[in-house]
Amino acid sequence: MSGPILAIETSCDDSCAAVVADDGTVLSNVIASQGIHDRYGGVVPEIAARQHLHLLTPTIDTALEQAGLRLAQIERVAVTQGPGLIGALLIGVGQAKAIAAACSVPLVAVDHLQGHIAANFVEPDPFEPPFICLVASGGHTFLARVEDHASYETLGATLDDAAGEAFDKGARMLGLPFPGGPALEALAREGDETAFDFPTARNVKGFDFSFAGVKTSLLYMIADLGEDETERRRADLAASFQRAIVDALLTRLERALDASGLDRVAIGGGVAANGPLREKVEALGAVSHIPDRLLCTDNAAMIGVAARFLPDCSPDQALALDAYPSGSSR
Ligand code: KG4
Ligand code: ZN
Repeated sequence: MSGPILAIETSCDDSCAAVVADDGTVLSNVIASQGIHDRYGGVVPEIAARQHLHLLTPTIDTALEQAGLRLAQIERVAVTQGPGLIGALLIGVGQAKAIAAACSVPLVAVDHLQGHIAANFVEPDPFEPPFICLVASGGHTFLARVEDHASYETLGATLDDAAGEAFDKGARMLGLPFPGGPALEALAREGDETAFDFPTARNVKGFDFSFAGVKTSLLYMIADLGEDETERRRADLAASFQRAIVDALLTRLERALDASGLDRVAIGGGVAANGPLREKVEALGAVSHIPDRLLCTDNAAMIGVAARFLPDCSPDQALALDAYPSGSSR
């Protein structure tokens, strides 16, 4: 272990920097949302990369300032290596390499999905392995068995869309802005979640997920109802659609928990910010850990906390570090 870690996360459209102390305390966690992609209805990779170029340096400065530290006091630099948008990742990786080299401190490469799990290790309320973790974000949805702080075993994953992608696409069909998850959750609060019966992919066995069916089902439902009736029943549609996604996530989580023999459960990823999902996970009856909403959606604090348990790159590895768009380098 060493002193404070400067962490950088640029895997998608948020430019993020954080400072994490040696003991895992988050000293600062700054997220500069690009706020430009909503006009296109989704993240445009090239624009995301260009925006990181503008936003990342001031975001790092703010993170250091809020932590009350100067760059010279940083003892490690952690960066998201992948998976994510390759152009966006490369801006963060390049910046992290440059800072580590200029300050002569080690670089730590962090997998974004390990970061979402590590959101559960944040002080002052760290959740200790072993546990089952549901990770649901815009790009990934999977169940992990977490036995230690540095790795996990994937028990099952989505066969098609990620849960966050389903939220985003459903929201778009209902005329809501991007990102759709928070907007759909807000609209759903005014609706009846039992009004429509959307599928939860009951036919998909084991610990895998599928969200293509629920998305298509909403599309057909909107076509059947017609414009006026869809408009009148938007909140009911949102509430029922959200219930189907949350139930699908919960069913697999319960299955994995039963099969594992573990009584400890955690969640992570942007969809873990969803209120009904958070309530239902807490109500499972297992010992549960639900990270703060800010630690669920993309942020650099989770990358810094993950780095506490990971090895440094050697100087040669650091200079040669490349980003990876999908999968993992490990
Ligand atoms: O983890 P994240 O910030 O980025 C990725 O790694 O993908 O997750 C973003 C996803 C988006 O699809 C967004 O719509 C969804 O998380 N999300 C939510 C909520 N907040 C964010 N989905 C449902 N309810 C929310 N409150
Ligand atoms: Zn993420």
